[in-house]
Amino acid sequence: MTLQVNTHLGSYPITIERGAIRRAGELLNLTGRRVCIVTDTGVPEPYVQAIAAGCENPLIFCFAQGEQNKSFDTLRSLLAQLLHHGFDRTDAIVAVGGGVVTDLAGFAAATYMRGIDFYNVPTTLLCAVDASVGGKTAIDFDGYKNMIGAFWQPRAVLIDPETLDTLPRRRIADGLAEVVKMALTNDAALFETIEQTVLLPGEGEPLPEAIDDIIARALAIKIFVVENDVREKGLRRVLNFGHTLGHAIESCVGLGELYHGECVALGMVPMCSDAVRARLLPVLVRCGLPTATKHLPSKHELLRALKHDKKAAGAHIHAVIVDSVGSFRMENITAEALADALYACPFGKE
Ligand code: GLY
Repeated sequence: MTLQVNTHLGSYPITIERGAIRRAGELLNLTGRRVCIVTDTGVPEPYVQAIAAGCENPLIFCFAQGEQNKSFDTLRSLLAQLLHHGFDRTDAIVAVGGGVVTDLAGFAAATYMRGIDFYNVPTTLLCAVDASVGGKTAIDFDGYKNMIGAFWQPRAVLIDPETLDTLPRRRIADGLAEVVKMALTNDAALFETIEQTVLLPGEGEPLPEAIDDIIARALAIKIFVVENDVREKGLRRVLNFGHTLGHAIESCVGLGELYHGECVALGMVPMCSDAVRARLLPVLVRCGLPTATKHLPSKHELLRALKHDKKAAGAHIHAVIVDSVGSFRMENITAEALADALYACPFGKE
């Protein structure tokens, strides 16, 4: 199936199709130009080779897997490779991987020669339902996530759900957190589907076929939000539901200790009414996400992290709150009030 994104910063199709990665040459505009495939060491080689098969003489730039490599050093060496190989403004980048890859490759595309085309081929569920769409590109800087970046829309996004079958179970859960976020804030029917469907496979088992439809429904929400507020002046902040506390928890527990989606799960729980939380907690458990308090940092640490988060740069934080499933409201609150909400929250049992 194909979805379409239309923004004043760029319009593009999203193809969701099993086996699509082997049709990259048809689905993306890769011929008659130089193509640099950007990927990392965590991405299975056959996915990279499938994209390479659709290009004429591609350049492959593969960096070491890990958030710590979403850095100026990696960006610099990618830009140097493009320059060294004579890439010009008519050439293109294809990002094959998770959010670290698509964020960094997209930012390279945004900045090289004032901007060249790029395509996203997400190979994690987290990236498929969130980072690959919407044109937020960035690197981390000076200890802060996504501090240097640009809004630069891809020319197309290719999601092949079969590539998600090689993900470890915990990585699937990581992506499901973003799906739950979209449903809880915007789509009660999708939330009911999530309540009624087994989405997390056993370790080593493929994802259920229902995931194709779930990805499309989650992306339909993201597309609506992005089309109405591409530069995040207002509405797009809803996509940060659970993220302000989530990022603060992520930075307190140490890089890699908890996955992004796990922190978002913990960050969503205090931001709901009691009735919504009663439905959210069992969904998180079934999606393999944490609901317990043992990961929570001290209030002092949490406040420091909240105040360092760029979304909390002003005196107030734009908090997103869900009073009933499928809807949200935004409220400006202080970091102290947000921290208090977290500690007052009756979390579930692990
Ligand atoms: N990941 C949040 C956004 O795209 O705005």
